[in-house]
Amino acid sequence: MKEASNYSANLTYQTDDFSRAISAVTKLLVDFIDRSRLSDGPVVNLKTVSDVTKALRLEQFVELAGGQGDPGILGEFVETYLPTLIRLNDPRFIGHQVSRPHFASALADLVNGMTNNGMAVYEMGPGPVAIERFVVQWLLGFVNWPDGGDGFLTHGGSLANLTALLAARGTFHPESWREGIDHRHVFLVPETSHYCLQRAICILGYGERNIRFLPTNDLGQIEVDQIESVFQAAVDEGNSPVAICANACSTPTGLYDDLKSIGEFAKQKSIWFHIDAAHGGSALVSQTHRELLHGIQFADSVVWDQHKLLQTSALCTAVLFRNPESLNRIFQQHASYLNTCNDDDFPNLFHQTIECTKVPIGLKFYLCLLAIGEQGLADFVDALFSRTEEIYRLISSRDGFVCRYKPQSNILCFQYRPEEFDPFAIRDQIIREGEFYFTRTELKGEKYFRFTVTSPETSNDIVSKLLDRIEETAG
Ligand SMILES: Cc1ncc(COP(=O)(O)O)c(C=O)c1O
Repeated sequence: MKEASNYSANLTYQTDDFSRAISAVTKLLVDFIDRSRLSDGPVVNLKTVSDVTKALRLEQFVELAGGQGDPGILGEFVETYLPTLIRLNDPRFIGHQVSRPHFASALADLVNGMTNNGMAVYEMGPGPVAIERFVVQWLLGFVNWPDGGDGFLTHGGSLANLTALLAARGTFHPESWREGIDHRHVFLVPETSHYCLQRAICILGYGERNIRFLPTNDLGQIEVDQIESVFQAAVDEGNSPVAICANACSTPTGLYDDLKSIGEFAKQKSIWFHIDAAHGGSALVSQTHRELLHGIQFADSVVWDQHKLLQTSALCTAVLFRNPESLNRIFQQHASYLNTCNDDDFPNLFHQTIECTKVPIGLKFYLCLLAIGEQGLADFVDALFSRTEEIYRLISSRDGFVCRYKPQSNILCFQYRPEEFDPFAIRDQIIREGEFYFTRTELKGEKYFRFTVTSPETSNDIVSKLLDRIEETAG
């Protein structure tokens, strides 16, 4: 058995060890980021998981370290670990939709990791709660609901969409919490919604048969003219529509739905209007692009990820509600062991979130805001969107390449001689070579290459080289 003194030594931080570990790892990270920016080395090193496990020497490190808390070994392991990562700071990284984080946000991760304030109970994180409320108010300022609205932060768009739909159900059918669901409730969802929306509806206890898919045009945007017939068919079958959802923007194409028309429809039918703006909500901070979200004021709930376009490290998502009362309709529970001092002055946020213990995620965004400023964030969004438009022009003007639409955000789909080549096979081969990273998608049964431009440094030159590579790979 371990000596009590040894045991407690393992649990405490030795200031020197900590500083040494931090400075060793910081050096490694700075080098990693610098080399990524310069495209020095592969953007992704895609090996099988068993090869990666071997390369990481996980068991050997555990044996070698012996649980002694040696800061040297921590740095040594991080050095082994970094080459197994995809490099978001490399301008040849052109997808998925994860921000290359600002160091201010990473600093918040360190502070959060060291201080570990649980925060769902106010007493367990007064500062984090105050910051979260500030961040939510800051975001609400862009949504601009007449009565202000309210909301909270949660861990990612998927949990956020689930919580928003719980609020919709709790508003129209509060009895569901006690009695369970009524199978006549249906949800109107675009075919092109992110998979997490359909998943959320099923987690709520409904089945896929409770989802009524809204037809979309060739580009995956809701056909506004067809909403009425989908709604009416559901009602004629004896169902009760609860909510209609829209994309701002849609994950595969980055295109926005007509929020105003859909919102007016929801209002006219007195159903909940939910906007999944996980990706595209950040256009709100840009004076140039906020028009894309025209109609957001009709929404009852909006989901907006800061870790997609606002340089915040994952995860940081806001769930915003037009009516602050909605926050009280998500859950109907009490927990006496947590419910201390809960009033306006000492707010316990666990009443609203799926999480109990919650990382102070507001700090990750707040430090970014301090470092970059509101205008800086707007400039960043503008830079990504205009870079994507320039890339669109470049691709469209090149022989054999086809872009079916002008991008509205930083997501762009395109094809190469679509009648001859399978973009999925070409893309998979190219990313295995490690020089570029981009993604792929399907739209109405057609296959596309897909870019998410996350770095303003993704130049035309880089894209031209990638187009060359596509041509070569296609043979
Ligand atoms: C429109 C949309 N909604 C929801 C999500 C899921 O968000 P998260 O990855 O933060 O869970 C995504 C992710 O790509 C998305 O694009």
